[in-house]
Amino acid sequence: MVDVNQIYDKIPEYDHNLPDYDEYYNKLIIGISLLLIIPSLYYLYRNSAYLLDVTPKETVITVEKEFSTNENDVFPEISSCGGFIPYLRKLHEDQGDLVSSKLPYPNTISVVDPMIMKATLQIGDRPINLFKFLEPFLGNDNLQIHDSKRAAKFRKLVGSSFGHDVLVAKYPILRDIVVEFIEKWENMVMKDKNTVFKMQEQCLEFSLRTTLNVVISIDEKNLDVNTYKKSYDAVLIGLFDKQFGKLDTLREEEFQEGINFMKSLTCKLIDQRRKELNKTNSEGETKVKDLFDILVSENDPHTGKPFTDEAITNYISGYIMAGYHTTGVAIPYTLFALSQNHDVQVKLHEEIDKTLEGRLPTFDDLSNMEYLTQVVKESLRVHPPGSFFARLLKSETILPTMSESKDLRIQADTTILYPIPLYHENPKFFPQPEKFDPTRFSQDKIKDIEPNTYCPFGSGARICPAERFSLMDIKMVVCLILQKFNVELAMKPEDLIKEERFANMPKNDVLIKLELRS
Ligand code: HEM
Repeated sequence: MVDVNQIYDKIPEYDHNLPDYDEYYNKLIIGISLLLIIPSLYYLYRNSAYLLDVTPKETVITVEKEFSTNENDVFPEISSCGGFIPYLRKLHEDQGDLVSSKLPYPNTISVVDPMIMKATLQIGDRPINLFKFLEPFLGNDNLQIHDSKRAAKFRKLVGSSFGHDVLVAKYPILRDIVVEFIEKWENMVMKDKNTVFKMQEQCLEFSLRTTLNVVISIDEKNLDVNTYKKSYDAVLIGLFDKQFGKLDTLREEEFQEGINFMKSLTCKLIDQRRKELNKTNSEGETKVKDLFDILVSENDPHTGKPFTDEAITNYISGYIMAGYHTTGVAIPYTLFALSQNHDVQVKLHEEIDKTLEGRLPTFDDLSNMEYLTQVVKESLRVHPPGSFFARLLKSETILPTMSESKDLRIQADTTILYPIPLYHENPKFFPQPEKFDPTRFSQDKIKDIEPNTYCPFGSGARICPAERFSLMDIKMVVCLILQKFNVELAMKPEDLIKEERFANMPKNDVLIKLELRS
């Protein structure tokens, strides 16, 4: 056995004449520190210009907590300007890139500044109040107002529903829908070559049908598209007008009937889809899942339980609502732009003819036709369907700005509005912004576009999840129209007046004449 006392006896007494190891150690540490600190100081000195950029700048604007003006003063002014975007345009002309007063919403700023957009890309929260008007249709727990964490989980779950595989699988059905429209228009033109087409009306029907197909793979034999469209229009226009108290009793009734019709239809479809999926699973078939399939077969990542019927109905309604009017107006705006820019139309005809040689476009053809893509992107720049997108800064944040001398200190719970058209029409970001020039998006010039200035689909964490589908949808129609027809405007260009509804709609429609190409 080991005697602990013996061990202690063997330990020599502490000798004060022995060298002081603590002192050696301290000297060593100081030496090493100097070796590290001196080069670091030299590095700081050499790079001071760069470092100055990241230290807070002298002027810091603090956005005040309550600065909204009286609503009664602002709303008449908005309507006398012709809408919220023209009103914001005027405020930005007066106040610069950052507008922080005279806005109709509390604790809100409007910014036209790519640095601020870049600094806020990761923010996924939206101001709930701004989207409250959607509640009668989408419920008080809809995707638009999910906080960033919940939205991110949901978007991850359903992300594949607008992915490449789904679009490729759906492509033949979607193209058949376009072909049906083209044949209808061709027959009308053959009967009367002076036929004037209300293109917004036509394209809204088209976009509703393709959106329904992509989101819920609807079998159109079981759906009266016209009744469905009428209900959707009554709901979308009603939602918008209701927030300004502009819905009379008759339209309120149509609005409620529309909501009831669509909700009961979706409920029926849910039961049907569950049965279909059970059958497919039991037969061991694999199928590309659309949004509807995912919602009826997966758990809600927020609750860990299956999505309720109410939640499924609200998500489906939200997706169709977000896709229907936006894509539906983007197509007539593109036709308007082509009618006003003959050289662009000729060049696009050439690309289509050369690529397709008279056959129908494949999915890959649409991606490969570079000029077609450029035309659609430029059209979305000049005529963006959306007015603005918004984010909520929940905590106090300092943001860098375009101005060399300013940082922006934003208080907690401030809403940032990003007015899309004001970015797109700013000559600092798009020289000669009024010019319709698709080559801005050509491979050699696209790098000149300042990042975070082109934003028809929003930006960052909550960017539109269906961008790829929308571009394909718009390109497909434009391609097939141009393959068959010359496009001519049948109204005065100055009569194209944009009216802010759920999307920026052409108030007097877009009247187009289609001339059969020889
Ligand atoms: C030209 C067509 C379209 C345009 C211009 C457009 C534009 C936008 C914009 C500006 C936003 C807000 C993004 C943000 O806050 O950063 C958005 C969101 C959204 N869009 Fe689109 N969109 C289009 C088509 C579609 C289609 C076809 C669908 C679905 C079928 C769709 C579904 C959605 C959804 C679900 C959101 C909300 C995403 C979220 O809250 O996380 N959009 N879209």
